[in-house]
Amino acid sequence: QEGDPAAGKTVFNKCRACHEAETDRNKVGPSLLGVIGRTAGTLESFQSRYSPAMKEAGEQGLVWDEENLAAYLRDPKGFMPGNKMAFAGLKSDEDIANVTAYLKADPKP
Ligand code: HEM
Repeated sequence: QEGDPAAGKTVFNKCRACHEAETDRNKVGPSLLGVIGRTAGTLESFQSRYSPAMKEAGEQGLVWDEENLAAYLRDPKGFMPGNKMAFAGLKSDEDIANVTAYLKADPKP
């Protein structure tokens, strides 16, 4: 299912309290600029703040792509027990596809 990056930018409003996607600035969560293709738990400037679970996932080879990001966003705690993202998840497949497309587009303001 191909997502729409413009619609995804609106969906990203649910993430903005904790994440930037258009700059490398960290908030409560790590910057998501360039997250697609990044190994989980490896943003250098966020190293001291990741959970052990997120770092271990990366050490075991988890590289964020459209498929595993969709699974994480649908059920963050179920996909990765022990991760500390305090977010219930997105319930709509369309929202998930759109926000993933937005992140993949390496959005600039
Ligand atoms: C981690 C996406 C909402 C806080 C992550 C990661 C992704 C992500 C991809 C892993 C990043 C990495 O490996 O470097 C999203 C998206 C959201 C969302 C797309 C909205 C749909 C939120 C919200 C919060 C939050 C609302 C705060 C209440 C965090 C934190 C981490 C994280 C603290 C690090 C988790 C850990 O180390 O265990 N998020 N997130 N996120 N997110 Fe979110």
